[in-house]
Amino acid sequence: MPYYKVLKLNKEPFSTSPDPYFLYPSISHRQALQRLEIAVRLKRGMSLILGDVGTGKTTLSRALIQVLSKETGIISHMIFDPAYDSEFQFVTYLAKVFGIRPAFRSVLDYKEAIERFLFKKCVDEENIVVLVIDEAQKLTPSSLEILRTLLNYETNEYKLLQLVVIGQMELLPRLQRIRNFADRVSLKYILNPLDVNETKDMIDFRLKQAGYDSGEKLFTEKATDLIYQHTQGYPRKITNLCHSALEELVMKDRNTVEEDIIMEIVERDREVELIQ
Ligand SMILES: Nc1ncnc2c1ncn2[C@@H]1O[C@H](COP(=O)(O)OP(=O)(O)OP(=O)(O)O)[C@@H](O)[C@H]1O
Ligand SMILES: [Mg+2]
Repeated sequence: MPYYKVLKLNKEPFSTSPDPYFLYPSISHRQALQRLEIAVRLKRGMSLILGDVGTGKTTLSRALIQVLSKETGIISHMIFDPAYDSEFQFVTYLAKVFGIRPAFRSVLDYKEAIERFLFKKCVDEENIVVLVIDEAQKLTPSSLEILRTLLNYETNEYKLLQLVVIGQMELLPRLQRIRNFADRVSLKYILNPLDVNETKDMIDFRLKQAGYDSGEKLFTEKATDLIYQHTQGYPRKITNLCHSALEELVMKDRNTVEEDIIMEIVERDREVELIQ
């Protein structure tokens, strides 16, 4: 039986998958999502979300797609891993993402086809077309150049493509080096780690989402203080630590995660790090 069933939960509370259902609306995550929605609706062109490793970027991108997909008139597309070497590979892939056929011979032909597609969907049919790119730090300079040209497609009033670029912090200096790119960014937002209270709330939120409805706290106050101390509010680290803590809890046949359980896991992880 999985450990979470022993705790009478109906879902795994601390899985590392980027499931928007478990996205706790911290100030940073909530603001980022709201601002993205507004930028898309106002057809502002390009939005940039940056964050350190494990701050919730992929989860946020999925939450955005989920919100947007509920709206009629908004067509959203997502690219998870944009590592394409050549311009040709990248435009071919973009065309596929947009569902454009047939195949073309040159980069220029593809770009023109994409422009026609965007014009038809956004102007003739009055939709909003959104392209969300996660892991954008993997975009090569030539792919970034293609995106820059897509942002040139516009009417007198608005940009045809709503581009949401999400990546690790290292992306920023790269964008700044490309002329005419940085000044096209209409929204720039940095996802911050959680503070100590948000860390506690995130743990409670994920337990509740997993079906925990007992009045008793599963983690003591001191245990969550330690969790914050060792994760500095980075959501992936919190998730991993809480997952291990609940496994230990079940293995030890105890009822509450106390400080000693967290200490034990932290020590164990430290030893593993030393070996690696
Ligand atoms: N606000 C949040 N509330 C609850 N869980 C979160 C939150 N943000 C992130 N997480 C959890 O943290 C883990 C890492 O999130 P995610 O994969 O979205 O991070 P990332 O920024 O995309 O990481 P990477 O830089 O490695 O791509 C996931 O398990 C996710 O569910
Ligand atoms: Mg990610």
